Amino acid sequence: MEIINLRQRMISVAREIRREGNRTIGFVPTMGALHAGHLSLVHGARAKCDVVVVSVFVNPAQFGPREDFAAYPRDLTRDSALLAECNVDYVFAPAVEEIYPKNFSTYVTVEGLSEGLEGASRPGHFRGVTTVVALLLNIIRPDFAFFGQKDAQQAIVIKQMVRDLAFDSGVFVLPTARAESGLALSSRNDYLDEKERRAATVLYRSLSGAAAEYDKGERKVARLIEGVKSRVDAEPLARLDYVSINDAETLEQLDRIEDRPALISLAVFIGKTRLIDNIVLGKTEKQDAAGAIA
Ligand code: PAF
Repeated sequence: MEIINLRQRMISVAREIRREGNRTIGFVPTMGALHAGHLSLVHGARAKCDVVVVSVFVNPAQFGPREDFAAYPRDLTRDSALLAECNVDYVFAPAVEEIYPKNFSTYVTVEGLSEGLEGASRPGHFRGVTTVVALLLNIIRPDFAFFGQKDAQQAIVIKQMVRDLAFDSGVFVLPTARAESGLALSSRNDYLDEKERRAATVLYRSLSGAAAEYDKGERKVARLIEGVKSRVDAEPLARLDYVSINDAETLEQLDRIEDRPALISLAVFIGKTRLIDNIVLGKTEKQDAAGAIA
């Protein structure tokens, strides 16, 4: 496994692989602090592609001024060891100046889809995500890129960007990896103490409660949302930021769930830590062997 720090070296390595013409490149973008959720994306890439590239880059452009950019966990030695065990071929770990050189002034914005949900709570967040993902896709030019369903809106926004700007890469979205308690794996779980970690299971419990009501026939969004709110309110360490039910593809806000899959997503503060989670109600996605939603 080679660790690459320079953008130009990454471009040359990827270009050389493409030139050989017989190997596909799978790409997993990350911000490091790797956990089993990231590794499931790496396994997905490993199963589908000949060469696997993982980027480790804490992207300043996607953090707001009062967010945790400085505190975000960074440990490239540990991350590289985990990636080597997964037979990753290249780790791209650039410094901030490699990605955003002096005078950097081009940003990518996906209008509409970026504006609600996480976009409303974290202004500028998706502009930072789409800019860095566009850059990474241009540097590596992978055949396939892999994202997690945990960041459902991110995956939808990136798919739109890839379509609109004609990136020559397929996008796979793999299922959310969860602890046994149901807690969605996230690098930000590292901020939680033991009590908070128990409290944080309220996100998935609330979503599962909504799924159970949906399974019993409830289709009114207001009722399902009310149930989630009351479950979150019952947890003393939790403070709801938002809960929303939207069309799972277009993110259009819904009053009733009809015949299309609906995304129910929420963000909750557990103490000072903001966590997100989601599930899809009325799923009809076709999944491939790796569990990817095509
Ligand atoms: O999901 C993440 O970890 C980040 O948003 C990504 C896609 C690596 C871009 O920085």
